Amino acid sequence: MKICFATNNLKKIEEVKAALGSEFEIVSLQDIGCFEELPETGDTLDHNAFQKARYVKSNFGVDCFADDTGLEVDALDGAPGVYSGRFAGEPRSDERNIALLLDKMSGISDRKARFRTVIALILEDREYAFEGVASGEILGEKVGSGGFGYDPVFRPNGFDRTFAELSLVEKNEISHRGKAVKALISFLRNRNIGDKA
Ligand code: IMP
Repeated sequence: MKICFATNNLKKIEEVKAALGSEFEIVSLQDIGCFEELPETGDTLDHNAFQKARYVKSNFGVDCFADDTGLEVDALDGAPGVYSGRFAGEPRSDERNIALLLDKMSGISDRKARFRTVIALILEDREYAFEGVASGEILGEKVGSGGFGYDPVFRPNGFDRTFAELSLVEKNEISHRGKAVKALISFLRNRNIGDKA
């Protein structure tokens, strides 16, 4: 089965391809001729994920899914949340976002945080949503060189390494996006079985 992953983030495509294996073929935005920035102007992850997926479906006519992710920090009342990408303003920069986060967290002992991902799927004329959460804590400095975004300062619960120190396979096992993708895969598999029955 072929499906478009509506993102311009190559790291996300790499992660999701690793999670999906060969059962589903992921088509990128470039593959369908979409070279523009997708709109995401909402104030919830759901809103943004569906906004991106609907944009691709209505302008390019392909079945697709889009994700939106936020980092929710307890001591910051859930911030940066849906604004994680633009936390330190435009143009978006992982470096500046992390620097601002560490600055706001300086001297704070409650380091609890979680990543939350919503995946919006549009198949034919129906819409579905899947969610995944990964809990952990924010370190005082960056550790590790893999991954992207806030990975170097996020250590998932039960691990002594940050997301930036995990392999793709390890991160997918426990990450917010990995869990949301698992829910998506099991939905698509069941649907395929249902279609053939
Ligand atoms: P978006 O889902 O692409 O809008 O991402 C929002 C923000 O969260 C951006 O700053 C991303 O870099 C960051 N982000 C998304 N997924 C991850 C992840 O798996 N690890 C670390 N940061 C992430």
